[in-house]
Amino acid sequence: EKGGYDTFMEKEIFDQPDAVRDTLLGRTDEAGRLTLDEIRISEEDLKAIDRITIVACGTAAYAGMVAKYAIEHWTRIPVEVSLAHEFRYCDPIVSERTLVVSISQSGETMDTLMAVKHAKELGARTLSICNTHGATIPRESDAVLYTHAGPEIAVASTKAFLAQITACYILGLYLAQLRGGTYADDAAKVMGELQEMPAKIEEVLGHLERTREIARFMADTRSVLFLGRNVGYPIAMEGALKLKELAYIHAEGFAAGELKHGPIALIDAGQPVFIVVPGPDTPHGLHGKVVSNIQEIRARGARTLVIAEEGDEAVVPFADEVIRIPKSAPLLAPLLAIVPLQVFSLELSTAKGLDVDQPRNLAKSVTVE
Ligand code: M6R
Repeated sequence: EKGGYDTFMEKEIFDQPDAVRDTLLGRTDEAGRLTLDEIRISEEDLKAIDRITIVACGTAAYAGMVAKYAIEHWTRIPVEVSLAHEFRYCDPIVSERTLVVSISQSGETMDTLMAVKHAKELGARTLSICNTHGATIPRESDAVLYTHAGPEIAVASTKAFLAQITACYILGLYLAQLRGGTYADDAAKVMGELQEMPAKIEEVLGHLERTREIARFMADTRSVLFLGRNVGYPIAMEGALKLKELAYIHAEGFAAGELKHGPIALIDAGQPVFIVVPGPDTPHGLHGKVVSNIQEIRARGARTLVIAEEGDEAVVPFADEVIRIPKSAPLLAPLLAIVPLQVFSLELSTAKGLDVDQPRNLAKSVTVE
């Protein structure tokens, strides 16, 4: 069942091009327009949506954070991401014009299910992004957009994450197309760029030897930091979560812009820091800002492990290691940047002799509150 791999997690990492490809399948007509037959909410209701709240836990919530940047950019609808267990027990602002989008691989996570039920009681429209057909959360929701990652066995989520991000892009582009506006005409173009991502993920998967080597030499490391900005910020958080879960190493992800507001005090000689660098074409000059961050922490002795686009030479003088990913549209880059971080944690966990597929204290599906 492991398809020749030592662990389910490794197999699932290598399944990721297919997870994205299959999730994209059949979503467009011949003219390249998105057609989401599965979504059983009327076009009229979808046009009236004035707020989106994403509810999810763990890795699925980080997919939601990536989605926020993309959906707000394409649709101009405000998107909030709420951890499901927090949403349920605060006083959320929800109306019949709110679309509450739950994201869950299993479709059985109790915290997420309770949040969906609560949203329904408050009158929201509910849409479930789920990887498991017929699970409880999609059954409780008004509409469902299935991810087609195939069964995910390893406790640490990998291919479901990429499929969730893909489904969120599809949803955002569908809403943009439906509602008209600046990005309606661009939806087909972005879908085209999305279709190219599986081949780019394959490319990343073909060049991981150095990442594995770096991991093997870090088996004694006590703490690793992860920095990112914009869509790279949730990727930093997800990279940190993978390391905690799999290698039991203290790890923290944060927004690169926060450095000088506190975390830079953590940097001392030899501190390993992964930096997810936005592509040089990212708007608002974010690339240059992150390069300065790398320079700042390197000057304080950090060991900088940089994930950057091919051809981005600006990072080289400040990087102890550069892990390359192919060029892509800035909002789609998370599908590439997370892959080396997954493999890093997998390899480090293996180097420590730990159980990759069944980390201590964790269950695949958390069905209690
Ligand atoms: O099945 P779900 O997507 O609802 O699960 C949510 C989280 O429990 C899950 O993503 C968890 O964080 C993973 N173990 C992360 O690798």
